[in-house]
Amino acid sequence: MNLIPALLVITFQSVTNGQNQQPMSRLNFFDIDLLRYCAEERRGNVMVSPASIKATLAMLLEGSQGATEVEIRSALRLAPTKSEYREQLNLFLEGLKTNTTGVFLQNANSVFVSDKLKMKKDYESLLKSVYLADVFKMNFGDIDGSVNTINNWVSKKTNGLIPGIVEPVNVNPSTEILLANAMYFKGSWQKSFDPKETSGTCFYNHGVCNKVQMMSMRGQFKYAYSEELRAHAIDLPYEGGRYSMVLLVPIDRDGCAPLIRDLPYMSLNQIVNVLEPYDVQLTMPKFTIDYSEDMVGPLISMRISTLFASSSNLSGIFDGDSPYINSMYHKVHMTVDEQGTVAAAATAAMVVPLIEDGVQLRVDRPFVFFIRDNELRVVLFEGRIEEPTPFVDASPAKAPTPVAPPPAQMMPSGPPAPVAPLAPPSKPVPEPVTRKLVQRQ
Ligand SMILES: *[C@@H]1O[C@H](CO)[C@@H](O)[C@H](O)[C@H]1NC(C)=O
Ligand SMILES: *[C@@H]1O[C@H](CO)[C@@H](O)[C@H](O)[C@H]1NC(C)=O
Repeated sequence: MNLIPALLVITFQSVTNGQNQQPMSRLNFFDIDLLRYCAEERRGNVMVSPASIKATLAMLLEGSQGATEVEIRSALRLAPTKSEYREQLNLFLEGLKTNTTGVFLQNANSVFVSDKLKMKKDYESLLKSVYLADVFKMNFGDIDGSVNTINNWVSKKTNGLIPGIVEPVNVNPSTEILLANAMYFKGSWQKSFDPKETSGTCFYNHGVCNKVQMMSMRGQFKYAYSEELRAHAIDLPYEGGRYSMVLLVPIDRDGCAPLIRDLPYMSLNQIVNVLEPYDVQLTMPKFTIDYSEDMVGPLISMRISTLFASSSNLSGIFDGDSPYINSMYHKVHMTVDEQGTVAAAATAAMVVPLIEDGVQLRVDRPFVFFIRDNELRVVLFEGRIEEPTPFVDASPAKAPTPVAPPPAQMMPSGPPAPVAPLAPPSKPVPEPVTRKLVQRQ
């Protein structure tokens, strides 16, 4: 049995006005755990869609019983009763569809099931009504035909950005069920970056300067510095304000791994709630991510394990034998550029570094981002960026600058200044002033 959530996304940016209190926040622990286990598994850029993985797991949850059900439900932190969590999840899935000026979001679920199997009728109707999923009967004996059907579906739902998710090797005549989830997001920044301000500057990864495409702008953004996380947090809104990209930028150049490790102690909602409007000079890299991973490893780390073992109990899906899942492919594509791509009752003390009349934030080291629906308080995508888009000097006179190891003094030593200085300021930059934000209800 194969489970394949395909995920995809594209350009974006963010802001926030999340007043609505939906019962989604308990789902956020899942998001943080997922990012952590995915980021620990490999280097480089990592990106996952917790929303799409949740949607897929929820569909499996409905067909599962015994230990399998308990594991999925507790990893997702769902309400204990079926009627409650169905309502939660249905609301969640309905929220993953938007088409407004500046933001287009589409989430689609499909179940490709072998025509040799008898799917339970009530399971099938539940998939359609609660999980908004399409069910396709497949002849997996026709491998090429099956691969085409699945890949065409994914390609269509992702507007061509993910042309395919399965290869002939992933499908065989004994395949029983293949679940696919496709998500597409395209957002324009509320405040776009001026491409003329984009230049090639250092981004430090593992102490090495890589020349990357850095975008720059000055504007009002919601911002805070978290002492607990030793990181800056900034909210970049997409047009319309419902969706945002939230960046968490560690103050230490090699602070990304500890940041991700410490995140479970502070929810993204808490972070977003303490952000306050500041005049910010923001410099951040453009980046593109193509990420493809089998989610079985991270999910097993999150204690969803019987689903992937012969002890799996999916007896609510089929009459007869209970299958198990052998893979769960997750594929994501995203681009962040000039045009496009969260706070309050926290118990955390937040400190804001002030420079002149504003804040300077230079994202020149590995960082974490979240794309968030501020209304539903749901994380659509999350990731870690270590390798932004390289800068290639277009001028024929000069060769591209080779990557050079940084001089020793560039390595962080002791607590670094919370805010890196900008390129030559016209005025001297005063010492950062820090002040405590008062806790608010
Ligand atoms: C699945 O769990 C249910 C309820 O615990 C149990 O009755 C059933 O026998 C189990 N089926 C399989 C295949 O393990
Ligand atoms: C979004 O809605 C507009 C008008 O309602 C429509 O023209 C457009 O095709 C839609 N976009 C997508 C990608 O479906």
